[in-house]
Amino acid sequence: MNRRSLIKALGLSAGAAIAPSIPAIASAGIMGAPATEKPVLTVPHITDVHIRPGDKAPERFKACLKQIISKHQVDFFLNGGDSINDASYDNVIRDQVTEQWRIWDDCISVIGKYEIYSCLGNHDIWWKAPGKTDEMYGKDYVVKRLKIPARYYSFRKKNWHFIVLDGNNSKISLDEVQFLWLEQTLAQIPAGSFALLMSHYPILGTTQVLVGGGHSDCKRLKDLFYKHKDKVRICLSGHNHLSDHSVYNGIQYCCNGAMSGFWWGKGDAESAGAGFYQETPPGYALLKLYEDGRVENDYYPHKL
Ligand SMILES: [Fe+2]
Ligand SMILES: [Fe+2]
Repeated sequence: MNRRSLIKALGLSAGAAIAPSIPAIASAGIMGAPATEKPVLTVPHITDVHIRPGDKAPERFKACLKQIISKHQVDFFLNGGDSINDASYDNVIRDQVTEQWRIWDDCISVIGKYEIYSCLGNHDIWWKAPGKTDEMYGKDYVVKRLKIPARYYSFRKKNWHFIVLDGNNSKISLDEVQFLWLEQTLAQIPAGSFALLMSHYPILGTTQVLVGGGHSDCKRLKDLFYKHKDKVRICLSGHNHLSDHSVYNGIQYCCNGAMSGFWWGKGDAESAGAGFYQETPPGYALLKLYEDGRVENDYYPHKL
C-alpha cells in the first residue's frame, strides 16, 4: 500500500502544508553500561501517538502510559510529536481539532506528576483555521496545548541538556534563526555535560531511505554536531513510524517507531503483525542516560 492509498484507507485526505511523510523492533542500546551501574536519568520517548476517538485508541494509549510508569522508574517523558491524529489536512474543522486535544489532555492526565516535554509534529498544526489571526491557527496554538515554552527550546536535567527542535519549516529543516540558536545552545554546554536532541523528523538514519520524511538540512546538522561531538550523544525522532538505530561519528540516531503503530489500525498486508507499520510494532523507547555521556535506547512493543 502506498502513501496515498494508505491515507485513503484511513479516511484522510491529502494536502498538508508540510507533506506528511509516513514515516522497530528493539534497537539495542550500544555503548552500554555494566548492568550494575545506575543511569542518572531514565526517560521514555513516546512519539506519533496520533490520538483520536475510535479503535479504543484513548484506552490503549492510557494503558501504555500506565504500563511505562509501572514497569520502569522514569524521571519524565519525552514526546516526539504527532500527538493528535491530525489537524493538518484541508477538511479538518475546529471541533475535530479541539476534540483531539481534549482526548490528549485526558489521556496524559494518567501520568499525573510526571513532566512531559513535547515537540511539534506536522499533524498537530491546524493550518486551515479560518484566518491567521485565529487563536487556533498554526504552531502557537500547538505550543499552548502541549504546554511547552516555545516551538523549539532546551532544558537541563542533571548533566544532560535536552534540545527540542521544530523541523516544520520549508523542506523539513530548521529556519535560520533556530539554527543560530542551536549553534549557540550547543556552544554553551559546559565540558562534562551532554546533549540529547529530539526532533519530529529523523535527521540521519535508515527510515528516511525507506519512506522519506527526513531533515533536508541533515548535512548541515551533521557538520554542526561533529563540531560538538564530545557533547552531542543522541538524536531522537519519530514521524516515520519505523524503528531504526544508526550511529554516525559516534552519535546515535534513533527513530523510535510510533505509539500508534499503524495509526491504531490493524495494519495492512504489508504489516509484519497486528498494528504494525511495515516491520515495526506499536511501542515506545526507553532511554537510560549515564553521567559519563553513555546512553542506551531500547524500543519496547506495547502489545495493546
Ligand atoms: Fe506520525
Ligand atoms: Fe509526522
